[in-house]
Amino acid sequence: MPLQNTPNIEKAAQLLRQGLVVGMPTETVYGLAGDAFNEEAVKKIFSLKKRPFFDPLIVHVASLDDVAKLAESIPTTATALMKAFWPGPLTLVLPKKSSVSDLVTSGLNTVGVRMPRHPMALELIQKAGSPLAAPSANLFGRTSPTCAEHVRGEFGDEVFVLDGGNCEVGLESTVVGFEGNTVTIYRPGAITSDMIRATLAKNQLTSQVIEKESDVAPGHLKHHYMPKIPVVIVPENTPLESLKKDICEKLQRNEWKPVRLQLSSDATLAARELYARLRECAESGASFIVIEKPLTPPSDLWVAIWNRLEKAATVQLGWP
Ligand code: TXA
Ligand code: MG
Repeated sequence: MPLQNTPNIEKAAQLLRQGLVVGMPTETVYGLAGDAFNEEAVKKIFSLKKRPFFDPLIVHVASLDDVAKLAESIPTTATALMKAFWPGPLTLVLPKKSSVSDLVTSGLNTVGVRMPRHPMALELIQKAGSPLAAPSANLFGRTSPTCAEHVRGEFGDEVFVLDGGNCEVGLESTVVGFEGNTVTIYRPGAITSDMIRATLAKNQLTSQVIEKESDVAPGHLKHHYMPKIPVVIVPENTPLESLKKDICEKLQRNEWKPVRLQLSSDATLAARELYARLRECAESGASFIVIEKPLTPPSDLWVAIWNRLEKAATVQLGWP
């Protein structure tokens, strides 16, 4: 973790108290943060990101008192997951208090809540004096930022960015919801389904855990996390030339300048570097990015990595 840069945290907190938005480091990706209880600030987040209002925001907290300001009630399963994984890369979708604006939740009766584990984020939330709504600090549909420079590249001088170094996890949080006796993973992340199952079992909770994108939060769009040039996913060890005609047709361009995305074979490192590598590929002068996917289904953290890559992809070709 970088050294705490207190004068800048103070400055960012002051901007937040004035109803402005700032770039906030977290352990997952950088967020575009504003006071969750200030509607003007929340509107600024949507307009800066060019994000449609139907995609709800996650609210970041620094304490259980903050959670009480947001959630009407907390299921026992959610409490067990909070104890096991907070502060950390896990967002809990909880029944919302009526005082939480419909703007934040896109009119849903639930609110996504997360306690990040980056020390600067926790200090910022405390100093701002209010939970902070923060989506990833990228333009809607684009690659998430994993360092302060990425955020500046996205919003220029319009947004003050609190520099907290490179993000430790590199992928957005796992998002889970609770209905009856079911825990649903809406978005996979570094807290994996196995980790969630093990925690519930340890607490003698019998909920079933399923993985399913939310149909109530249409934020889970098919195309998301997209770099500035198209991404093509092919099965591993495919000779690319054999797909040339198909790729040109699907991308509707004849320019043939592929660049291969190379990721570490270590999942933790691959997740951490994923978005920076995608950005580098997009800036390399290539006309499209090629990613080779193993034929065996992903497990553990690779589930989240491939979830993001598949959403970043324009097409997948060459599959049997
Ligand atoms: O790691 C993260 O979660 C980062 C950092 C900044 O905390 N934030 C982030 O926010 O990725 P965003 O807005 O890019 O993604 C939030 C996701 C969206 O897919 C949204 O649809 C879902 O969370 N979400 C938020 N509130 C929800 C709700 N009430 N019900 C279901 N899904 C919800
Ligand atoms: Mg996002």
